[in-house]
This record gives sequence, C-alpha cells and structure tokens, in this order.
Amino acid sequence: MRFYTESLGLSQNAFILLRDLIHERLGLFYDNSKQDLLSDKLSPLVVARGFDSFLDYYYLLKYDEDAAAEWRRVMDVLSVQETYFWREIDQVRALVEVIVPRYFAEHSTTPLRIWSTACATGEEPLTIAMMLNEAGWLARAPIEIYASDASPAAIAKAQAGIYRERSFRSLPQALRDRYFTVIRRPTNPEFESAQWQVVPWLHAAIRWDVINLVSESDMRRVAPVNVIFCRNVFIYFSDNAIRRSVHLFAQRLLPPGCLFVGASESLLRIASDFDLQDIGGAFVYVKRS
Ligand SMILES: C[S@@+](CC[C@H](N)C(=O)[O-])C[C@H]1O[C@@H](n2cnc3c(N)ncnc32)[C@H](O)[C@@H]1O
Repeated sequence: MRFYTESLGLSQNAFILLRDLIHERLGLFYDNSKQDLLSDKLSPLVVARGFDSFLDYYYLLKYDEDAAAEWRRVMDVLSVQETYFWREIDQVRALVEVIVPRYFAEHSTTPLRIWSTACATGEEPLTIAMMLNEAGWLARAPIEIYASDASPAAIAKAQAGIYRERSFRSLPQALRDRYFTVIRRPTNPEFESAQWQVVPWLHAAIRWDVINLVSESDMRRVAPVNVIFCRNVFIYFSDNAIRRSVHLFAQRLLPPGCLFVGASESLLRIASDFDLQDIGGAFVYVKRS
C-alpha cells in the first residue's frame, strides 16, 4: 500500500483539499496524523481512475458529472465496518424492556419505528429484531425496523444476510442456533470461518437503505421514527458533523423520540435538542418536546 502513496505523493495541499471535501460530504474527519491512512485508502481509487495525482481525483470528486458514483466508492473504502451481534446490549434491552412497553401502553395500533442509522453489515438491527422477537413483540405489535449505512457495499452485505464467526463473538449460542443456519462449513477451520445465514423471516423484518447521515436530501427520505440507534460512527466525525447529524435526527424523531449513541460517544456538548436520561439502566438522549 505504501507503494501507491509514494508513487502518487499526497502533498499537504492535496491532503487538505481532499480531507475537507470528505469532511463536508461524509462527516468523516481525518486530522493531520491520519494523512497516510487517507492516502492508503484512496490510492487504489485514484489509480483505478487512471490518474497519477490526488489533485486530479479531488477535481473529479468536486466537479465531475459522475461524481455521485465515485463518492459511493469513496464511502466504501473509508467505511470501518467493525460490528457484531449483541454489541452494547444494555441499550437494546432498555429499548425492548422499557421503551417498547411504554409506547404500546399508549398506542396500540400506531407502528413504532426504529432506525439503526449506521448499521454497517446489519448485526445491530438484527440484534434489535432478535431481542424484540425473544420478548414476543414482533408477533404482537406493529414494529417497523429500518437500517441504513452510507456504504453501499456494507448494505449489500447486510442484504445478503450471511455472517462469519467474528460477528458471533457475543451472541449466546442458543440464539445463534435459533436465528441462523450454517450454509458453509470450512474444510480447514484454522484458516477459514464457517458461514451462517440469518433466517429469512427475521431478515425480512428489516428494511435496508443507503443513507448518508450528513446529507439533508438523504435524511429527508426517511419516514419519521420513534427510536434512533447511531452507535460507533460519531467517533469518526468532527463535532460540527455530529452537530449536523444530530440536528437532522431531531427533525426525523417523533416526540418523545429516543437516540442511542455508542458507549464511548457523548453528545453532552452538542445536543441542545435532547436531554440525557437513564432508561432501564442505559443512557438515552430523549428529544425535548
Ligand atoms: C463501526 S461501524 C458501526 C456499526 C454499528 N452501528 C455498531 O455499533 O456496531 C461504523 C459505520 O458507520 C458508517 N458511516 C460512516 N460515515 C457515515 C455517514 N456519513 N453516514 C452513514 N453511515 C456512515 C460506516 O460505513 C460504518 O459501516
């Protein structure tokens, strides 16, 4: 990979132009210490386009008619899809054991809409669906689960619904047995992982889409929702980008809407539209009415 960077040479000027453009369009922020990382990730795309400079690639992204297709490739290479089933499960438990019963005590027929906004390859919304089903909610109440990510490649994997060992590191074995079927056993387990397919009826409970959290036009496509999960993506955003996304979330959330962020993420200096509350032992940002 270093070969690309050295042969293309990402100058400080080109780095700043590209870095700022990526920040504006995707919210992701690469500080000066991440210049090599950004260069390594983008180099294959620059080469694939037949360019020999990052500056040409910058002009393509900024001005070309085909830029939208190229931005999807950029999002795919910059996307960090680290995720697994049953991650930070206390928040999902608070949803299923407190927020959902409270909601249906007041609205018996209006659907509850839950949106997993940076779902990567789908483990988070499937975790929500599994826990709702374990508690009997999927069968007895109108619940809609939406899941999206800005990376088309991540959403394509989520739509395929096929998972390897890494995704199961925290999922109790009984749930793996109930919700997944083995579709491939490795001939050499030391070097390959088995593959499991999620059962189709659970997978069908989720609607998938490609949505960029800092794009107003993307966000306007989303129906109003009651609960948003946006976990482990703000760690890659600048404060300004977080502010923009959270403001767009506030517009999509029906009061008293709930916003869950990752355990290491805090909106305290950012989210003026929300109050932080402890609900069922988990921290939740609740939209002010
Ligand atoms: C580390 S994963 C988080 C997955 C899951 N939410 C979890 O907590 O396990 C971060 C995801 O954020 C997505 N992402 C990054 N920038 C985004 C943006 N502007 N809009 C939507 N998704 C974005 C990436 O593509 C990646 O799949």
